[in-house]
This record gives sequence, structure tokens and C-alpha cells, in this order.
Amino acid sequence: MKINWINKIKAVGLALVVFTTVSSGFAQDGAALFKTNCAACHKVLKNSTGPKLQGAQALWEEAGEGEMIFEWIKDPVALIESGKSKRAKEVAGFSKMQMPPQSISQEEMKAILDFADAYEAPKKEVEVAEVKVVEPTTNYTLWLIVSLLVAGIVLFVAKRVKNMLELAVAEKNGVQLKEKKGSWYLRNWRFALFLSILVGLAFGVEGLAKGYSVGVFNDYQPSQKIAYSHKLHAGDMGIDCKYCHNSAEKSKHAGIPTTNVCMNCHRMVPEGTTTGTTEIAKIYEAAGFNAEKRDYNYDEEGNVIEGTPIVWNKAHNMPDHVFFSHAQHVNPNTANLDCRQCHGDVKTFGLGRVATNEEINELAKTDNKIIPLEKPIMTMGWCLECHNTKTVDLTKSSYYKELHARLKNRPDAMRRILEDDKVTVRELGGWECAKCHY
Ligand code: HEC
Ligand code: HEC
Ligand code: HEC
Ligand code: HEC
Ligand code: HEC
Ligand code: HEC
Repeated sequence: MKINWINKIKAVGLALVVFTTVSSGFAQDGAALFKTNCAACHKVLKNSTGPKLQGAQALWEEAGEGEMIFEWIKDPVALIESGKSKRAKEVAGFSKMQMPPQSISQEEMKAILDFADAYEAPKKEVEVAEVKVVEPTTNYTLWLIVSLLVAGIVLFVAKRVKNMLELAVAEKNGVQLKEKKGSWYLRNWRFALFLSILVGLAFGVEGLAKGYSVGVFNDYQPSQKIAYSHKLHAGDMGIDCKYCHNSAEKSKHAGIPTTNVCMNCHRMVPEGTTTGTTEIAKIYEAAGFNAEKRDYNYDEEGNVIEGTPIVWNKAHNMPDHVFFSHAQHVNPNTANLDCRQCHGDVKTFGLGRVATNEEINELAKTDNKIIPLEKPIMTMGWCLECHNTKTVDLTKSSYYKELHARLKNRPDAMRRILEDDKVTVRELGGWECAKCHY
């Protein structure tokens, strides 16, 4: 089957904001269309920002306005203002928010509404969403060193005071005491040695731990200025990863969305359930959007006065000497890997973080598209382990046919393939230093 790329230009309200949503799917796939266009505000079975969509067609038909539902979706305000629709008037007061016009075709609308009507809730599995609290790691070795040093100083001072007191007492009694010779260290060599070994050990342990964790980012989650939640957007609302990380299939980087992407929706959505207006206000500030006027701030020449862009801190960070490309790994014509293979079930995360091997291996138990890997995530060992394990279906695309042709000229690779009858990424060259290193 051929995959269609639908490019949709949506005009949101009367705004000048025009943006492109690239979504993959089949033209008449109601579920996918629903997800990309409507799921931010509508649920199928429950009211949310907008009314539930299951049964919507029936309601309009009951009002004798079966066909007008399309006019509604195309331009709700126009239909309300035309005064010709009873249902439009009824539903207009549903929320403070006004549904923006949707520039999709009538066929697509129909596909969405039919999908909604036919939808049956899947049997609920008991699912406990885990809220990850990242605890600051207390640095015990540092505390050990500090306490040891303090203890050492206290001991040293106490010893000096004792010596001085002894001297003073002796002097008073008329006895001549020789002040002890040599440095404190020499005189108390046993204690000093003990102290040095402890301090040395402490530093050694610290150093070793550092050495082992070089490049190991397991579970790293940097803090961010805005309490963005993947669980809410990608999980509950079902927004496709590629809506925000839209260069994943095309380029090296998956990309972090600009403020404009947030504004596609937040121009209309000033408030969240858990954080009220405080967090979304930060998006407005960055976009130069005035929440009261519900419009952008303009200068005299009519240009938007933008605020300071949002700075997102990176969770993943490959060293400069490594070349990693998302396109090679996620494009359907190449490796076609699931994001979860390398990032875990991001739909359940709040802010972005580096997933752990354990949580991905857990996903692998129930999903055969995902393979378990043992080497610490995001390290070179991890890349190599997958390249040595993951098999590649060479019959899939012209890209692979070309690789196949190249393989025939490489006896070493051919021999390994004949040994176990498997073509892994390694055999295609995935272990060659220059493939991953500049
Ligand atoms: C930005 C939020 C938003 C988006 C996106 C959105 N809607 Fe709506 N929709 C609403 C709101 C809010 C209402 C309630 C009416 C109002 O206040 O404008 C509504 C009402 C409706 C109704 C009337 C329901 C009834 O019970 O009569 C239909 C049908 C509808 N939307 C379909 C769609 C479809 C189909 C899409 C996607 C192509 C979509 N909407 C996208 C917010 C949205
Ligand atoms: C509504 C927009 C949006 C959607 C949808 C979305 N993300 Fe994100 N994502 C962001 C933003 C903003 C950040 C940066 C802030 C953060 O780290 O949470 C981010 C960060 C990330 C990061 C960490 C990047 C880093 O700093 O290294 C990963 C990985 C990620 N997203 C994967 C996904 C996956 C997988 C999905 C789909 C399940 C997804 N995202 C859906 C907006 C989105
Ligand atoms: C084969 C493993 C792998 C797969 C599959 C994968 N990623 Fe990544 N991702 C990485 C690595 C490695 C980095 C770090 C890249 C860097 O720092 O240059 C990364 C970084 C990111 C970032 C941070 C920004 C950037 O582009 O560097 C985002 C966002 C992200 N990935 C999203 C996604 C999404 C969405 C998908 C699915 C469409 C996905 N990734 C699939 C390995 C993967
Ligand atoms: C496709 C539409 C859409 C996009 C794109 C989008 N959001 Fe949202 N967001 C929503 C809706 C709808 C809500 C309100 C959900 C609720 O809390 O009921 C929301 C809520 C929020 C909240 C408040 C959460 C709460 O519960 O208080 C924050 C913060 C937020 N979004 C940040 C962002 C950021 C940052 C971006 C851009 C990276 C973004 N959103 C992009 C639709 C979107
Ligand atoms: C979960 C499995 C997996 C992980 C993890 C993974 N890769 Fe890959 N990689 C693949 C697959 C599958 C291919 C596709 C082979 C092909 O089509 O040539 C590939 C291809 C590549 C290629 C192209 C190789 C060639 O022969 O042209 C490079 C470069 C690459 N990966 C780099 C990396 C780097 C760097 C990392 C670690 C940061 C990494 N990969 C992690 C599965 C993985
Ligand atoms: C599949 C991709 C891949 C291949 C093939 C690969 N590397 Fe790496 N290499 C990485 C990644 C990712 C890192 C950074 C993460 C880390 O330090 O573990 C890295 C790091 C390194 C480092 C720096 C280690 C450090 O501690 O900073 C050296 C040196 C290195 N690689 C050498 C090689 C040599 C030599 C080869 C060929 C025999 C090779 N690499 C093949 C992905 C690869």
C-alpha cells in the first residue's frame, strides 16, 4: 500500500497564523484525521473542550439539519451568525471557547464523524500511570570527604590546644617540657596515614563512579521553564509525536517545536486543568501574545512583537564526534523504528527525559516491534548492540535493494550472513567507525 502525505493548511480563526500540519495516513482514515485535527478539543465518547463527537451526526439530523453539520465544521461562526441553524445556536454556548474553522474536505469530515459513531471503547486494561519524580541525587562521597576533613581539623586543633595546655601547666609547675619536635603529621603518622587513605579512597570511589557514568544518561530529566506534559498532549489528547517533532523522518534531528506550534492551539486555549493560566501565560509571553486582547502585540508597522523565545533544556545530547540521524532510524523506508525503541513510552512522561533500559525492555515484552537491549542507553555499546541484533528486511524498498547489491561485493559480510542466515545492521556496515563518527 502506498502511504499518502497529506499537507493541510489550516487557517485558525481570523488569525494570520497559518501553519502546516504534515500527517501521514490514508486520505479517508477517520481515526487519523480525527487525531490530527480534532483530538485536541474533542473526545469521541466524552465531552471535553468541545462536545463528544459520537452521536453528533444524529443530533444534527434530529434538528432536521443533517447537512449543516459540515457547514458548522467548515466555519462555526459563519453558521451561528447566519442564524439559520437551530443546533448551531444550541451548541454555541457549550464552552467559553469558540471552535475554529477546520479546512478539511467534506469527505474527510464525513470520515471523522463516521469513525466517531462507529467507535467502541476498547476493553480497559488496568493501567497505572506512573508519575516520575526525579529526586536530586545526594552526593554521599562528597559529604564523607567534608565530614572527614572537618573531623581532621577538629582533631588537629584539639591536639594543639592540649599541647599548649600541657606546656602552660608544666611551666606553672616549674617543669621544663621540651616542645615536641617535628610536624604534627610525623608525630601522628598512624592517624594521618589512616586519614589520607580514607580521603584517597573517597576521591577514588568518586572518580571511578564518574568514569563509569561518562556518557550514561539513563533517566536524565532536565528541568524546564514551562510545565509541558507529554502525558497530556501526546497521551490524553493523542497528538502525534511528529506534529511537534516534525523533522524526525526527514532529517538528523527530530526537532523541538517552536512557540508557534504551541500557539496553533494555545491561541485558543488559555487555560489548563491543573495549572490554570500560569503555565500557558509563559507561552503567550514568548509569543508576544496579549491574553486580554486575545491577539498578538504589534508594533506601529504591524509586525508581531515577539517575546523571548522559550529555551528548552536538552535531555539527550550526543557528543560532537558522533553522527546520529533520526531519518535513518525512523523513516518508513529505512529502519522504520518506533520512537519507543529508543525513548520509551513518552506518552506517559511529563517533561522529556532519557528513558531507562529497564522500561524499554519492559515494553519489548509485549510489543514484538521493540527489541530488548542490555548496554546502557545512548552509549556507543548500545548503538552497536542494536546494530548487531536488529535484522533488516532487504526486500522492502529500493534503498535496501541498493544495499543488497553493495553487500554482494563484501565477502566478510556475506560470510557472516551465511553463518546465521540473518542480515543485521552490522552486516550492512553499521559497525564501521566512520558511519557514526565524523
Ligand atoms: C480548538 C478546539 C476545537 C477543535 C480543534 C475542533 N473543535 Fe469542534 N467544537 C469545539 C467547541 C468548543 C465546540 C462547542 C461549540 C463552540 O463553543 O464553538 C465544538 C463543536 C463541534 C461540533 C458540534 C457538536 C454537537 O454536539 O452538535 C462538531 C460536530 C464538531 N465540533 C466537530 C469537530 C470536528 C470534526 C473537528 C475536527 C475536524 C473539530 N470539531 C475540531 C472545539 C473544537
Ligand atoms: C505538543 C507538542 C509535543 C508532542 C505532541 C510531543 N512532544 Fe516531545 N517534546 C515537546 C517539547 C516542547 C519538548 C521539550 C521539553 C521537554 O523536554 O519536555 C519535547 C521533548 C521531547 C524529548 C526529549 C528531547 C530532548 O531534550 O532530548 C523526546 C525524546 C520527545 N519529546 C519525544 C516525543 C515522542 C516520542 C512523542 C510522541 C509520543 C512526543 N515527543 C510528542 C513537545 C511535544
Ligand atoms: C534508534 C534510536 C532512536 C529512535 C528510533 C528515535 N530516536 Fe530520538 N533520539 C535518539 C538519539 C540518539 C538522540 C540524541 C541525538 C543528539 O543528541 O544528537 C535523540 C534525540 C531526540 C530528540 C531531541 C532533539 C533532537 O532531535 O536531537 C527528540 C525530540 C527525539 N529524539 C524525538 C524522537 C521521536 C519523536 C522519535 C520517533 C519518531 C524518535 N526520536 C526516534 C535516538 C532515537
Ligand atoms: C493540538 C493542540 C495543542 C498543541 C499543539 C499544544 N497544546 Fe498545550 N494544551 C492543549 C489543550 C487543549 C490544553 C488544555 C487541556 C486541559 O488541561 O484540559 C493544553 C494544556 C496545556 C498546558 C496546561 C496543562 C494543565 O493541565 O494545566 C500547558 C502548560 C501546555 N498545554 C503547554 C503546551 C506547550 C509548551 C506547547 C508547545 C510545545 C503546547 N502546549 C502545544 C492543546 C495543545
Ligand atoms: C534499536 C536499534 C538501533 C539503535 C539503538 C541504533 N541504531 Fe543505528 N540503525 C538501526 C537500523 C535498523 C539501521 C538501518 C540499517 C540500514 O537501513 O542501513 C541503522 C542504521 C544506522 C546508520 C547507517 C548505517 C549504514 O550502514 O548506512 C548509522 C550511521 C547509525 N544507525 C547510527 C547509530 C548511532 C550513532 C546510534 C546510537 C546513538 C544508533 N545508530 C543506534 C538500528 C539502531
Ligand atoms: C553505531 C554507531 C557507532 C559506531 C559504528 C562506532 N561508534 Fe564510537 N561512539 C558512538 C557513540 C554514540 C559514542 C558516544 C557515546 C559514548 O561515549 O558511549 C561513541 C564514542 C566513541 C569514542 C569516545 C569514547 C569516550 O569515552 O568519549 C571513541 C574513541 C569511539 N567512539 C571510537 C570508535 C571506533 C574506533 C569505532 C570503530 C571500531 C567506533 N567508535 C564505531 C557510536 C559509534
